Amino acid sequence: MEKTIDESKQGESLVLEQKKENSRKLFIESYGCSMNFSDSEIVASILSNQGYNTTQKLEDADLVLVNTCSIRDKAEQTIRKRLEKYNAVKRINPRMKVGVLGCMAERLKSKFLEEEKIVDLVVGPDAYKDLPNLLAEVEDGREAINVILSKDETYGDISPVRLNSNGVTAFVSITRGCDNMCTFCVVPFTRGRERSREPQSIIEEINDLWNRGFKEITLLGQNVDSYLWYGGGLKKDFEKASDLEKATAVNFAQLLDLCAKTQPGMRIRFSTSNPQDLTLDVVETMAKHKNICNHIHLPVQSGSNRILKAMNRLHTREEYFDLIDNIRRILPECAISQDLITGFPTETEQDHQDTLSLMEHVKYNFGYMFYYSERPGTLAERKLEDDIPLEVKKKRLDDIVQLQRKHSEIRTREYLNREVEVLIEKESKKSELQWSGRTSQNMVAVFPKGNFKIGDFVTVKVTDCTSATLIGEGLHLSNM
Ligand code: SAH
Ligand code: F3S
Repeated sequence: MEKTIDESKQGESLVLEQKKENSRKLFIESYGCSMNFSDSEIVASILSNQGYNTTQKLEDADLVLVNTCSIRDKAEQTIRKRLEKYNAVKRINPRMKVGVLGCMAERLKSKFLEEEKIVDLVVGPDAYKDLPNLLAEVEDGREAINVILSKDETYGDISPVRLNSNGVTAFVSITRGCDNMCTFCVVPFTRGRERSREPQSIIEEINDLWNRGFKEITLLGQNVDSYLWYGGGLKKDFEKASDLEKATAVNFAQLLDLCAKTQPGMRIRFSTSNPQDLTLDVVETMAKHKNICNHIHLPVQSGSNRILKAMNRLHTREEYFDLIDNIRRILPECAISQDLITGFPTETEQDHQDTLSLMEHVKYNFGYMFYYSERPGTLAERKLEDDIPLEVKKKRLDDIVQLQRKHSEIRTREYLNREVEVLIEKESKKSELQWSGRTSQNMVAVFPKGNFKIGDFVTVKVTDCTSATLIGEGLHLSNM
């Protein structure tokens, strides 16, 4: 199953779980990465304390919030189009207020208020707790903005309101920001420096989800393997911590172990892993616990050493292969997925061939592929000319998408005639007689409903497949 991300399809309106009488109506939608979807649940929680309940109807909203993505130019264009739509609705409902959250808010700051007359409120990813104050300003007729990035905000004390939830799977954020400074990436500028959330608050959130019937969580961060709790503060300030803080620090492998032990009936996933930070301790922890899913999302971005260096990815192609070999040795059943970029400045045909040969070597289960989009303020934008013609970027993207499709099919077929464990998430989109769920390897599986129900772990015999989906029969409940 290869996937390319189309930001225009990622917007999703979200509904609060409980409704109160006489409340104001919030319409909130999210674009971009899982972290944005997770952040919107934090925002919904903060605003539910202010009497806001969500609506799925834009026309009914008193307040519209859009959680934005800046990762590629196309993502930003999608948001601009959405603002035009809000504008049309505001003509009918002039009381409606519009706020921009997330990475575009952080990147454009007050420029947003100048460029887009529709916008009343601009709030960066670390300033959501200030929303009640900012809304009060807006109600007094002023524009409001807070884009201050924080050293220690992790929203660890906020209990997210689960939006559009299937009641089975949930995101739990564990780190915020990123210190890696990949030269193409805007995230370090929009989400600030890296900091980790207190383990106890993570465990409490997981326990609460378990008690409410959830069966799978995904630990989220830009770079989860770099997780380090030493009492709070930025990752880069760890050296300044006291001896006691250093001695009692919790790293990602330890956190993962703690999560898996705390709720052994719950599946644990995590995303994203950066190859330079993924340690064998993490892979061994995965092997130790049956409930940690056999899947690692391990973006590589390019197969060329020269391009990896220009991207400031701190590993070589050879080191990446070593890591893959180690993962396969310790966890033979582990699925591996990628992110790749084509057409980074100076990329030659040979560099592109290196990417294709790296893919051949790994044969990823699936991946997210993009062509390079120059982002203002990044090191690549400042130091390198965006010199690969768009047709070449797109042609190379097409090459890698085709190759990934072939590999996904090979990987999917490996499961034919085998038994897999599937957690049922929802009804299949294609048939109301079938359930849809995922295997530990993150592959989608569909099978007849039988007497099974949403949230069940079921042993499924795979009898057929498409390039991306396993088709089978549910045999019996499995003993997760
Ligand atoms: N933290 C993750 C990635 C976050 S961004 C990591 O460790 O890799 C998600 C993906 O978007 C990246 O992996 C990259 O493939 C892609 N991406 C980021 N910036 C991009 C840009 N300027 N142009 C095209 N793709 C980009
Ligand atoms: Fe971006 Fe690299 Fe961090 S892709 S999010 S700077 S790991």
